[in-house]
Amino acid sequence: MTTATRKILVTNALPYANGPIHIGHMLGYIQADIWVRFQKMRGHECHYMCADDAHGTPIMLKAQQLGIEPEQMIAEMNRAHQADFADFHVAFDHYYSTHSPENKELAELIYTRLRDAGHIKTKTISQLFDPQKEMFLPDRFVKGDCPKCGAADQYGDNCDVCGATYAPTELKNPVSAVSGATPELRDSEHYFFDLPAFEAMLKAWTRSGSLQEEMANKLNEWFESGLQRWDISRDAPYFGFEIPDAPGKYFYVWLDAPIGYMSSFKHYCTTTGNADFESYWEKDSTAELYHFIGKDIIYFHSLFWPAMLNGADFRQPTNVWAHGFITVNGTKMSKSKGTFIMARTYLDHLDPDYLRYYFAAKLTSRIDDLDLNLTDFTQRVNSDLVGKVVNIASRCAGFIQKKFDGKLAANINETALLDEFQAAAATIAESYEKREFSRAMRDIMALADKANFYIAEEEPWQLIKDPAKAERVHEICSIGINLFRLLMIYLTPVVPELAQRVQAFLNEEFNWDSHRNILKDHQIQPFKALLQRIDMEHVEKMIDASKAANTAAAPAPASNDELKNDPLSEEINFDDFAKVDLRVALIANAEHVEGADKLLKLTLDLGGETRQVFAGIKSAYDPATLIGQHTVMVANLAPRKMRFGLSEGMVLAAGPGGEELYILNPHEGAKPGMRVK
Ligand code: MSP
Ligand code: ZN
Repeated sequence: MTTATRKILVTNALPYANGPIHIGHMLGYIQADIWVRFQKMRGHECHYMCADDAHGTPIMLKAQQLGIEPEQMIAEMNRAHQADFADFHVAFDHYYSTHSPENKELAELIYTRLRDAGHIKTKTISQLFDPQKEMFLPDRFVKGDCPKCGAADQYGDNCDVCGATYAPTELKNPVSAVSGATPELRDSEHYFFDLPAFEAMLKAWTRSGSLQEEMANKLNEWFESGLQRWDISRDAPYFGFEIPDAPGKYFYVWLDAPIGYMSSFKHYCTTTGNADFESYWEKDSTAELYHFIGKDIIYFHSLFWPAMLNGADFRQPTNVWAHGFITVNGTKMSKSKGTFIMARTYLDHLDPDYLRYYFAAKLTSRIDDLDLNLTDFTQRVNSDLVGKVVNIASRCAGFIQKKFDGKLAANINETALLDEFQAAAATIAESYEKREFSRAMRDIMALADKANFYIAEEEPWQLIKDPAKAERVHEICSIGINLFRLLMIYLTPVVPELAQRVQAFLNEEFNWDSHRNILKDHQIQPFKALLQRIDMEHVEKMIDASKAANTAAAPAPASNDELKNDPLSEEINFDDFAKVDLRVALIANAEHVEGADKLLKLTLDLGGETRQVFAGIKSAYDPATLIGQHTVMVANLAPRKMRFGLSEGMVLAAGPGGEELYILNPHEGAKPGMRVK
């Protein structure tokens, strides 16, 4: 039957405790949950751990902003997060917090071991300090003019306009985003983890052949550009754990965050006795350990984390599996479009199994982004889950109930289709195992088509008119119910609540091996509607509610954008202004730029003359939606050579950045080339 029992520990990235869960987050939690449910159904020992990532500057500042203690804020957030996950049927075996005694103890242990093995170095560095708030400022909490192109209002780490990366100390006219004060340079001693010392070990793990191809490529790029020591300390005030031998210094949040995987498991082991902590984490552990993460945090999980574990004498992860990012209707989730959908807002309007199915239908083992197109979502769920799968049961159950006392036939002689459905279990299981969920869903839906075709061919509703054919109808409908049952066994990891209703209807409990038998002479329950079709109206209501939530009292800001007020610029005279040649431009073409995170390449028509401009608006626009629009550009800006080519001008856009960036549109009637004055 099933192979020997495996011991598996699964984690998904720990969400930050300063904001609510949104549907983008849900992708990873659902992906891992499906995989875990599959392993459990197969009879393996599998534990799914998570926790809130509760430390760091943004969390400290957010609590200050709310006027409460960080402990109170993270406790409330923890409750909200757990409720969201539970309602999406994400069944963690334990959900903890990185602000826990176990995490403090393990962080100290790992740090001490690294230090004693000579892997911690110190160095004095100069950083921007906010004299008003009396704190050092992380990169994202400083804004100023880009040192390369001069663009105003850029973050301390990179420029949205020209794509340059730099140190916050290089910014011109820096301003603290926390207080608005002008930051000053201050020295402080920092603690560093000696990542380069682990190069050989990390290269060996990259070459092991088990990593995702894209991840191995990324790692190779990082090896080529050279590994750097990693700054793991932050000065007070900081919300986190103090470094044992360094009063006033705290562990940087990313040091103790992944340790949260261990401490959540530790707490679970101690309180439930369900597993033995050591046997999962000791150096030569034979248990499997997998981390599901989003593509933005690969660096932390594939370099720092394995190296830290190795240096502190713990086992390394068996694998780190990254997934891509969610877009909605083709673009980054947007507050103004109502597509920045909170998990709770979704739950208020729609059944979680719909989203779980849609994600599964699109997920592969690769790191590709995944688009949640809401029209496609509605059609796909309605046609696959309701129209194909549930339909099989609703076509057969009535006859079983009314004509045969709710009992399936004792004799089923026609077994070809049943055999085929049972035999499919192996391929479907392999797809689940390899995280090729979309392939599994495709195979299941192809079978569903066959089942529907079978019933349509046999026409039990015609046969039933002839009393002599009653037995045959009993057999056909019993086959139909069994085909439906097999599909639902295979779908259980994806749509657990629907599967629950089906198990109640069939009077049995599923595990993976259930597919090996066929229900004969078996009593089932009266059929009740198992799943409603999605009504587009509910989707629209969800979008409206998301818009409303984001314009009214905006929920906890995930970034520090909202913390800042734009200071007005210095006064200029009319001649200065007149020097700027602003023109109406038609966006003749817009496209993505290979390798650029922020830029789109625009071809602008100035009424005869065309210009190529690289604009830092990728976070806010799908290029296809820009083509054909009019906008305003600075036409006499000296051309600049950028990494991706020559940029001949600049388009005007308003907003704090990210998805909230709006290009200027002239009023109807303005023609390309017209001067703006
Ligand atoms: N706290 C860190 C992780 C620490 S793990 C030791 C963090 N938190 S997060 O709240 O920003 O993100 C949590 C998870 O959600 C990450 O895996 C992240 O990649 C994922 N996602 C956040 N936005 C996402 C989308 N729009 N789409 C898909 N996944 C996304 O990072
Ligand atoms: Zn710049």
